[in-house]
Amino acid sequence: MKYFFSLALLGLLLTTACKNQKKETYTSVDESEKDMAIFEDGKALMENKCYLCHSPSAPQHEGRIGPPMIAIKAHYLEKYDSEAAFVEAISDFVKGPTEDKVLLKGAVRRFGLMPQQVFDDDEVRKIAAYMYAYEIEEPEWFEAHWNERGGKHKHNPGKKHKKQHGKKQNHSEMGMKYAMETKKVLGANLMGKIQQEGVLQAVKFCNEQAYPLTDSLAQKLNAKIKRVSDKPRNVANAANEEELAHIAHFKEVVAADDKVEPIMVQKGEEVHFYYPIVTNSMCLNCHGNKQSNIEPKVLTTLAELYPKDRATGYDINEVRGIWSIAFTANQ
Ligand code: HEC
Ligand code: HEC
Repeated sequence: MKYFFSLALLGLLLTTACKNQKKETYTSVDESEKDMAIFEDGKALMENKCYLCHSPSAPQHEGRIGPPMIAIKAHYLEKYDSEAAFVEAISDFVKGPTEDKVLLKGAVRRFGLMPQQVFDDDEVRKIAAYMYAYEIEEPEWFEAHWNERGGKHKHNPGKKHKKQHGKKQNHSEMGMKYAMETKKVLGANLMGKIQQEGVLQAVKFCNEQAYPLTDSLAQKLNAKIKRVSDKPRNVANAANEEELAHIAHFKEVVAADDKVEPIMVQKGEEVHFYYPIVTNSMCLNCHGNKQSNIEPKVLTTLAELYPKDRATGYDINEVRGIWSIAFTANQ
């Protein structure tokens, strides 16, 4: 649900020209960002700082140095049922592990008391908040073990982990991440150029840097990332037949002010992801009306660099093109 939700939000953020966004939208943005922070920080911190001894993947009997994290979650939930109490108890134990605080008596018998270590308390609290709010990774044997023991509580309640979501949404998330990351890098660089050196220099920057920037990101993210258009400026960005069909579809959706959903197509091992690139007022400096939006010297430069330029005449909130991103399904 959360992923579906944040996707919808991204969609909203993306159709930048702020179609009468309502108050509630902002609240959900905040909440979802907070969720994201707990999810991403808490999960990563737990894996980095605690999995050394609390890994879910070590075998049940041999070679473990501590109980899997899920055992801690299940026992602490039995005693502490509010998030605040749960987080407090874990933070307190980690700060100073002592026999009298121990809930996992069997674990102490088997592994000895958790050694005292120096952890940042804020980080431990994030880890605990994540464990409380999300379904965490658990070994296959744990549920049966918990039930056998007569555990009364559900051992692993919480919002679903990414991986347990339908494949489609998972991929859609990844595609969106690639698109947004590239958009952020291109956008930040472009805005910076315009502010510091004016539109004309920014055109030259786009001309020289759009490809290298996109490519270096694509390499980093291990995906193929293209921006293509039905009315390309750079002929190398011309949409192919399939992409043209997707552009036509997105134009209808955006014109009707409907919710924009990415299109995903599985081709063998690869997932192909398509999402519209919509204009805002900044874009009109270089893609708007030739008479009223684009400065004459910018027009001249554009004509020199792109004799076949078709990418003018846009208004705000129009589909300028699409992200066309391909990545392997099992990354
Ligand atoms: C060097 C190994 C090691 C690391 C690293 C480690 N632990 Fe532990 N921890 C243990 C062992 C062993 C136990 C089981 C014995 C016990 O309960 O004290 C344990 C038990 C616990 C318990 C349950 C205590 C109880 O009531 O029985 C909590 C809570 C806990 N660890 C939190 C954490 C957190 C959070 C992290 C990461 C920030 C972490 N541990 C990192 C070894 C470790
Ligand atoms: C400073 C001028 C400038 C601004 C502002 C600008 N662009 Fe562009 N845009 C260009 C240039 C130059 C290219 C060609 C880059 C290349 O050679 O790959 C381009 C290419 C593109 C392409 C790739 C397809 C094509 O036509 O070649 C898309 C999509 C695009 N721009 C969308 C936008 C959007 C959306 C905005 C506003 C958020 C925007 N641009 C703002 C100059 C600009």
